[in-house]
Amino acid sequence: MKKYDYVIVGGGLFGGVMAWYARKNGKTCLIIEKREHLGGNIYCENVQGIPVHRYGAHIFHTSGKKVWEFVNSLAEFNRYTNCPVADYHGEMYNLPFNMNTFSKMWGVSTPEEAKVKIEEQRSGVTGQPSNLEEQAISLVGTDIYEKLIRGYTEKQWGRACKELPSFIIKRLPVRYTYDNNYFNDLYQGIPIGGYNVITEKLFEGCDLMLKTDYLADKETFDAMGNRVVYTGMIDAYFKYCFGKLEYRSLRFEDDIYDVDNYQGVAVVNHTAREVPYTRTIEHKHFECTVPYSKIPKTVVTREYPEAWEEGMEPYYPVNDEKNQKLYKKYEELGKKEEKVLFGGRLAEYKYYDMDKVIASAMWKAEAEFGKPE
Ligand code: FDA
Repeated sequence: MKKYDYVIVGGGLFGGVMAWYARKNGKTCLIIEKREHLGGNIYCENVQGIPVHRYGAHIFHTSGKKVWEFVNSLAEFNRYTNCPVADYHGEMYNLPFNMNTFSKMWGVSTPEEAKVKIEEQRSGVTGQPSNLEEQAISLVGTDIYEKLIRGYTEKQWGRACKELPSFIIKRLPVRYTYDNNYFNDLYQGIPIGGYNVITEKLFEGCDLMLKTDYLADKETFDAMGNRVVYTGMIDAYFKYCFGKLEYRSLRFEDDIYDVDNYQGVAVVNHTAREVPYTRTIEHKHFECTVPYSKIPKTVVTREYPEAWEEGMEPYYPVNDEKNQKLYKKYEELGKKEEKVLFGGRLAEYKYYDMDKVIASAMWKAEAEFGKPE
């Protein structure tokens, strides 16, 4: 049996950054990945010559200079800026809520007029909001809630807004400028050629075992490494001994259209309750510096939120008190596993943006190997 310095479970970003640091420090790595490809959720599938974001739209954005420099050392980034639009029964609104949205909704033209309008509409809720509906109205008023928040949120959570706790929406970004850039971060873009360019660099020089479930033969794999990096589900690692953590899942359906431009933008949020999907993603628009007319067809993915059951892809952790308490119990058990380093969205039961998962892996890798030269 070949022995490795590191057995890394999971070929996603966390595992990749750990592997990159390990290799830079002359260590040998074996990657064990359940899926048939590396990349985890940032994997892009080539369909019709277009990098399709297989597990949901991924837009890289960060204010962390170190992370931005790191990813730029792996791939060149384009100037993609996320400016999604919302479709409510064919009425199109700019997101995030900004002066373009307010102008379309109410015909107002100045920030002062928009503020007056929102103030008028918020006044219906007095006292502490007792559910998500009251919370949203207290933040942005009734029109925006009814047209742009209610249907989308109910589809996402599979429950009426009146039955959802108010803490889900702590704040809603409202911008009194004509600025459609979704993110406030300093840096933003998409790797030219898609995310696989980054993945290939991260795992360069590692041995791979794809389509392999580490937990199905844990003892053998553990014996193959001096150290294990585990990025899978933490409750599964401990055989669900305290019970199962809960998630929300998603289903993606692709259509290929015989037109070069289907919706004119990468991301459309469908906010009407009657439309069963929440978003349509037209992937070619992520490649914003390649003229869309260069490829005569286009790939559009519809995103359907689903209840999660074991065996399905766990996309979003359910961030409530019950699940956090349960996670803490697993985290304590994890601390006793001296040979194992746990990290990433599944092992830490946390919604992590890409830059945050990279920062966390860099921090843990530097504690393990020291800073790279
Ligand atoms: P990730 O899930 O990518 O990797 C873990 C890997 O471990 C998987 O490949 C899995 O198959 C493997 N694995 C698990 N158990 C195993 C086992 N027992 N044996 C072998 N392999 C196993 N972020 C952002 O910055 N901008 C964005 O626009 C988006 N968009 C977005 C959309 C959607 C729908 C989601 C769900 C998430 C995002 N994200 C995002 C977040 C982003 O996807 C996330 O930060 C990273 O993918 C996390 O990387 P990890 O390595 O932690 O997990």
